Amino acid sequence: MTIPLAPRTERAVDLAVGERCAGPILCDRSGARLDRHGAARIVRRIARRAGSVKRVGPHTLRHAFITAALDAGVPLRDVQEAASHADPRTTMHYDRTRVSLDRHATYIVSTFIAGASRQQEMFAPRSTERAVSGQSDRMGPFDSDAFVQSCIDALAESDPAGAIGELIERAVSEPRSLELACPVPVDLSDDGVMHLSKEILVCHAIFPRRFQTGIHNHSVGAIIGVWSGYEDNYLFEETGSGLRPLGPHRVETGQILVLGADAIHDVHTPPTTWSAALHVYLGDISTAPRNVWASVDSPPSEFNGEQQERHRAEGALATGLTVEPQREAHT
Ligand SMILES: [Fe+2]
Repeated sequence: MTIPLAPRTERAVDLAVGERCAGPILCDRSGARLDRHGAARIVRRIARRAGSVKRVGPHTLRHAFITAALDAGVPLRDVQEAASHADPRTTMHYDRTRVSLDRHATYIVSTFIAGASRQQEMFAPRSTERAVSGQSDRMGPFDSDAFVQSCIDALAESDPAGAIGELIERAVSEPRSLELACPVPVDLSDDGVMHLSKEILVCHAIFPRRFQTGIHNHSVGAIIGVWSGYEDNYLFEETGSGLRPLGPHRVETGQILVLGADAIHDVHTPPTTWSAALHVYLGDISTAPRNVWASVDSPPSEFNGEQQERHRAEGALATGLTVEPQREAHT
């Protein structure tokens, strides 16, 4: 049976394989093939580290996959096939053990209508000229005002980060529209801020190629959606004696990253091209107490927004992402 790999899984498999060209994909510490007992130990260890007090094993993950697929609205028949259940009644058992209002027709229809109306608002209608010229974009330029208003409205929902994540996911699914609204080379006078209040900051950021933000935090939750290039996020957590790396996480074009208020990261952009993303912060990061770290062993120091902006501007200018303003010729 062939099982497709999701991009994140494929990336994890790539990392596990490394430079090897032969042998098993997953190995234990001694380099031998990882058996099911070893896999179970790893899952239990990760669950313990995550704070789970319940016994978690590989079958728990399988159970979670099936219930999540059913929650996401995947037809029972497709879930049965993905789970390799010979009998559909086995899959139905998972369905019956859940009580999910989210799947009631009332909720599904209202979510669908809300989503459809937001999608309509977020993009301006395609112009006649572009339709005639035959360009393949389905939508007009990204409408930042409508996007900002949708994000502000989403703050009133029970799960603002989830609702804003959905908005960003829809926005970055139309990169051509964003490109029309955020042209490159970047205008030096454009700081990318679309809206700033005490509750929310909505902005777009285009980072130069081969750029590293440095290790920093935000002190507020953040949802970031990449619409061009990719961003490698190196995540860290604070320990009593410095920072502990949690590993890299690549956010590809069309994907979003949700960061908690305690998240610490260092963003690296591709070596060959700039990357662009929509950023929404659940608070005012311009006044929130923020830190930077020179390295994992360094103590934190206060975040300096002007210094950070200068660093980004220098990189942007050096790589042609922004161009020097034309100076008037002196005669
Ligand atoms: Fe950041």
